[in-house]
Amino acid sequence: MIDRVVSPFARLLLSPPACRNLTALRAALGGQTVLITGASFGIGEATARLFAQAGAEVLVVARTGERLHELVADIERTGGRAFAYPLDLSCPDDIPLLVDRLVRRHPRIAVVVSNAGRSIRRPAVRALDRRDLERSVAVNFTGPAALLLGLLPHMIAAGGGQIINVSTVSVKPPAAPRWASYQGSKAGFDLWLRSVAAEVQLDGVRVSSVYMPLVRTRMSAAGGLYRHAPALTPLEAAQVLAGAVVRPRARVAPWWLSAQEAAAFLLPGVTDWALARLEARERLRGARRGAA
Ligand SMILES: NC(=O)c1ccc[n+]([C@@H]2O[C@H](COP(=O)([O-])OP(=O)(O)OC[C@H]3O[C@@H](n4cnc5c(N)ncnc54)[C@H](OP(=O)(O)O)[C@@H]3O)[C@@H](O)[C@H]2O)c1
Repeated sequence: MIDRVVSPFARLLLSPPACRNLTALRAALGGQTVLITGASFGIGEATARLFAQAGAEVLVVARTGERLHELVADIERTGGRAFAYPLDLSCPDDIPLLVDRLVRRHPRIAVVVSNAGRSIRRPAVRALDRRDLERSVAVNFTGPAALLLGLLPHMIAAGGGQIINVSTVSVKPPAAPRWASYQGSKAGFDLWLRSVAAEVQLDGVRVSSVYMPLVRTRMSAAGGLYRHAPALTPLEAAQVLAGAVVRPRARVAPWWLSAQEAAAFLLPGVTDWALARLEARERLRGARRGAA
């Protein structure tokens, strides 16, 4: 009972600004073509459903073709328009081929939601054989960057558009231990895209970086670390992305993120101490598990 009252309130406090008004979203997106990467699960899937409901034609991209085809069938059953484009973003040779197919079939892509991603939480130094950094950079940075570099000239030629990056609050300070590959690759892409944004704004392309807090998805469920932490639902995260469409802003973030960044800047000794305690606790837990 308490959870049913407290949890929606905590999620509201946690959330960046969102748009829950389908009429407003319809006015912004109706009849437009939107490409969404990582649409086979989680935030991307919920966003594809919501944007299609608002009258957008959605192009859904991810590796798992069956999930994309099921999603397209669901959207079509409810009167929407959707097309599936299976792609592995970590295969650089496949990206220009997909861009060619996309721009031939959909000459005016108005919005690109760069959402696909992978997360991994593992010690950087004691798991060198896992190639975590290389694999994370391919999916979270170089793959999405190559896709955007392919699409941008066409968006500019068509008069502009919007790119929405599903970034994470964790690219902002302080950097947590054991997340080096995830945070490093997401932060690299975030900064790269903000630099591109400064270039393409004069060509009519707006970039919105959305610093998403915890969302209850397949990704955040892995490892069970956040089982009891307050988290947005995928639909609530999709409504945050809807907010970025209805009111385009360069930075979309929860109110508390600036306070966290300021605290990390003003009190570096305290944050270093807290992060060292966190890592020490993890090591102790690992040692106990090993001994059990
Ligand atoms: N969940 C959170 O708490 C949270 C918080 C902040 C930010 N985010 C960000 O939100 C985005 C979506 O995450 P989510 O929580 O919705 O995770 P998710 O449910 O695991 O979905 C990730 C999506 O990315 C796709 N993907 C993964 N690797 C890919 C590849 N190599 N090529 C193409 N697509 C690939 C997956 O599809 P396939 O497996 O079918 O390829 C899936 O559709 C990510 O960028 C993540 O960093 C998540």
